[in-house]
Order: sequence, then C-alpha cells, then structure tokens
Amino acid sequence: MRGTVLVTGASGLVGSAVVQALRHRSGLDVVALTHRQQIAEPGVRTVPGDITAPRLGLDEDVHAELACTVTQVVHCAAQVGWLKAGAQLEATNVEGTRHTCAFAATARARLIHLSTAFVELPLTASSSAPVPGSRNHPGGYLDSKRAAEQLVREAPIDAVIARIPGMLGNSRTGETAVLQGFHRFVAAAVQGRIPAVPLLPASVLDIMATDVVAEAIAALVCSPGGTPPLVWLTAGPAAPTMAQVAATVTETAGALGLPAVAPELVEVAELARRLSTSGIRPGTPAWRRVADLSAMCEVYRHERRFPSHLGAIPGTSAPTTQSVLDALAALTRRSAR
Ligand SMILES: NC(=O)c1ccc[n+]([C@@H]2O[C@H](COP(=O)([O-])OP(=O)(O)OC[C@H]3O[C@@H](n4cnc5c(N)ncnc54)[C@H](OP(=O)(O)O)[C@@H]3O)[C@@H](O)[C@H]2O)c1
Repeated sequence: MRGTVLVTGASGLVGSAVVQALRHRSGLDVVALTHRQQIAEPGVRTVPGDITAPRLGLDEDVHAELACTVTQVVHCAAQVGWLKAGAQLEATNVEGTRHTCAFAATARARLIHLSTAFVELPLTASSSAPVPGSRNHPGGYLDSKRAAEQLVREAPIDAVIARIPGMLGNSRTGETAVLQGFHRFVAAAVQGRIPAVPLLPASVLDIMATDVVAEAIAALVCSPGGTPPLVWLTAGPAAPTMAQVAATVTETAGALGLPAVAPELVEVAELARRLSTSGIRPGTPAWRRVADLSAMCEVYRHERRFPSHLGAIPGTSAPTTQSVLDALAALTRRSAR
C-alpha cells in the first residue's frame, strides 16, 4: 500500500499509537496534525492545525498541498473529557468532524473516523447521574460522538467508522501517552483506594490495548477495499467481566507486594444508599469521588457484548479474554510504578 495518511489527534492516547503503527508500514508517508501538544516521531511530518476551524486550521498553502497528496485520513482528534461543557464537545467532536469530512472530500481521501462502542448504550446528556452530584456523566460526550458518526455517514466520501472500546495502555508495557479516567481508576485500585465499585461481577468491560487497536486501524488503512462502513475494533465476545477485571488488578498488584484489596462489587443504588447514610455531605470531595466513579462506570453497567470485526479484517486477529486481561495486567504493573 502506498499513499499519504493524515492522522489527527496524533498526540493523544489512541492517535499516538496509530502514528506508531503506521510509521512502520512501508510505502506510507505519515503526516500528523498537532494541536496544543507537539510530537516528535522519526519519519513523521507534523503540521499544526485546529479541527474546530475551517480548513482544519491549516495554513492555506499547507492545506492546498495536503489536499493534493493525502490519500487517507485517520481522524483521532476529539474532546474525550466527559466533564467538558456541551459547547466544547460540539465544537471539537461535531464541528471538528464536519471539517475533517470536508477536508477528506476536497482531497478525495478515504476517511477512517474513530468513534466509541459506547454510542450503542442508552446514555445521553439528559440521562440522570446514578449518584447525584457527579460531574462526570458520559451522556453529553456520547451524544457528540453519535452526531459525528451521522456527519460521516452523510458526507460524500469513502469513509469507515471504527468503533473502539475503553482504552488500556500498550499491551506489553502498559504505557499510555495520556492518563485518562480508567487509568486513574486502576492506579487508585492498585493503592487500595477503591474499596467498592458500583458494578456487578457479571458486568462486561469492553477494553483493549492501545497498540492492538492501533494495529487494527493500520490494517484498515492498508486494506482499503471491501471494508464495511462500520467496523467494531472491540474485544466483543472476549470482553472480560468485572469479576475478572477486579481479580486481575488485585492479583497483579498483590504479586508486586502492593496493598490492593479486591474491591467489593455492589449495585450502584446500594452504594448511593451507603453514601447518603455515611455522614459524608453532598458536594464534598469525598462525595464527588463516589459520584464521579459511579458516573464513569455507566458505560460498563450492562452485560451486553458488542460485536467485533477483529480477526475478520485482514491483518488482525481476534482477541481472547486472556489477551485483554494480560494487557490490563501490564497497565496495572505500569500504574504500580
Ligand atoms: N480513550 C478511550 O478510551 C476511547 C474509547 C472509545 C473511543 N475513543 C475515541 O478515540 C479517539 C481518540 O481518543 P483519545 O483517547 O486518543 O483522546 P485524547 O487522548 O484526549 O486525544 C485527543 C487528541 O485530539 C487532539 N485535539 C483536541 N482538540 C483538537 C483540536 N481542536 N484540533 C486538533 N486536535 C485536537 C488532542 O491534541 P491536543 O492535546 O494537542 O489538544 C489530542 O491529540 C476519539 O475519537 C475518541 O472519541 C477513545
């Protein structure tokens, strides 16, 4: 496969792994669109931009040049902070995707748009928080990702929507370019600071290593023909349960001599009841920690297994539950350091 691939969000958790996966593929030139944070990758050209602006915020001559040379765009740039106000989510995730589609149309480039598996869940900006007082509900973010998918579906371009699950770190090292909510949760669990989790043992956590998902995206780039317009780069049937996740974190931390204690897995209503009778006052940091954890867990509070195209896309293999848990163990060891 030959061509030039423009990667947006190249400094982020997923985008940085995608750049790594692509730059090792022969015949591909990789151009990384950077925003606030710079990246330095051998052999990768960087261009400053802002997807919230027309022409992706590129200088006019750079835009004209890239419109002539780019053959595929991997769109990883997004606002994934669930705390962000609707306007910021709209500007980056919706308008940013509109501008990215417009660039792909001008360049006649194929677009691989990153979305989240969790758009399938019935969570919206108007869903109520499971524990009152949370600032961390995923509903507004998921609304913006649904709107972005719709723009991609309607754009007059060759496009693939790739739905990915919760991201761990690198499958072997546990390294993450960015620390997000799930990574902080594992780090707190390792230190024995999570006595209870508002998820049931049978709750399903679709989580994957960043490099595994990034290699699957690189495989999509390298096999342009015959890809369905929507692909799931998820653990799918291999997604572990909360009981398996808790056991892996606790056992991995325990083997390192850390004080991790298996968290109690409880119904969220029971956790809310305990909180309200604990003497902890609403609005205090201690209350908010529980409310925010409960809100974060909303995307895992179900027993549903998403589909997965991993193994069916040429150049990918289907994950196993053990491979997912091994990546979680790597993240746990990394968090312990
Ligand atoms: N992380 C997950 O667990 C997860 C799960 C499912 C789906 N996804 C999806 O995967 C994609 C990547 O997410 P991620 O976790 O890698 O996010 P991330 O770590 O927060 O990275 C976001 C990237 O977008 C860039 N960006 C933000 N605003 C921008 C703007 N206005 N113009 C240009 N670039 C901008 C950021 O650059 P600066 O930092 O320099 O601003 C950063 O490189 C997103 O579509 C997300 O919805 C992620």
